[in-house]
Amino acid sequence: MNRIFSGVQPTGNLHLGNYLGAIRNWVGLQAEYDCIYCIVDLHAITVWQNPAELRAQTREVAAAFLAAGIDGRKHIIFNQSRVPGHAQLAWICNCVARLGWLNRMTQFKEKAGKDRENASVGLYAYPNLMAADILLYKATHVPVGEDQKQHLELARDIAQKFNADFGVELFPLPEPLIFGPATRVMSLRDGTKKMSKSDASDYSRINMTDDADAVALKIRKAKTDPQPLPGPECLGPDGKVAPEAMAARPEAFNLLGIYAALADKDLNTVIGEFAGKEFSVFKQVLTDLAVATLGKIGGEMKRLMADPAEIDAILKDGAERARAKSAPILAEVEEAVGFLRV
Ligand code: TRP
Repeated sequence: MNRIFSGVQPTGNLHLGNYLGAIRNWVGLQAEYDCIYCIVDLHAITVWQNPAELRAQTREVAAAFLAAGIDGRKHIIFNQSRVPGHAQLAWICNCVARLGWLNRMTQFKEKAGKDRENASVGLYAYPNLMAADILLYKATHVPVGEDQKQHLELARDIAQKFNADFGVELFPLPEPLIFGPATRVMSLRDGTKKMSKSDASDYSRINMTDDADAVALKIRKAKTDPQPLPGPECLGPDGKVAPEAMAARPEAFNLLGIYAALADKDLNTVIGEFAGKEFSVFKQVLTDLAVATLGKIGGEMKRLMADPAEIDAILKDGAERARAKSAPILAEVEEAVGFLRV
């Protein structure tokens, strides 16, 4: 069976964007793949993390996985630092990857900003650790967002160079799984900005921990415009929403996109359904759907986080199974490299 590996940083305030863009897709992959979902705490500390918050956020992400429907007993959910093989293989990846490769990584440039001299060495080597995550399990497929495509490309380069340098066919080249366009969720207060955990206004986002009342209130307050909802006239010749139409009514298309994603429908179908209707009517339907899906997840997350024993047990068990799966692969790598192991 093909194997999925994916990672998510233990950031707090998981919101609808995280759910629709990543977690929900991961739930769906469980039927077809052997899935390993990792909370990447080693990646998190490439920038400063408050230790108590890091621990709490690790649990929050685990709760979100479980509440959304990831089966942590059948598949694997764990936090990265618990399996030392990630750091061990990352070192080997550090020695395979070239400075020139890392110098091309656009995310490092963004994250390091102007004061590059003051960025951690870990932030620079971050993509090598990500490669190690994937290769440690010989994962064949990696669901990633657009922003991680370049890092996945690097993981493929590292796998290829390792195989070539040591004359082995040890690592399969991991394939990206990129999910559809419905995943760009924008702020509920400003349809031109991405929904973000760091927006000052909590009304800008639907948090995964929001209960039914909070979800309903935020949708009611979500920014709209004075016209009725757009219809098929907004579609360009390619059958997609025309860029000018999108730019003119970002909030309307954001809400339509959210509805389409939650309902698992095509955006064009949804546009056809609500063409010419008033926002008040559409918002009611959207609220009902959002409450039905997200309200349940939020409630379950709260229950799990109130008593972390269940989460902690699943992460511990996941880590043990991850260690068992990765140990023979790490041994093979060390053998190929020439580390004395007898
Ligand atoms: N870098 C990824 C992100 O920030 C998280 C990540 C770490 C990851 N290791 C991974 C994703 C391995 C896919 C595979 O989103």
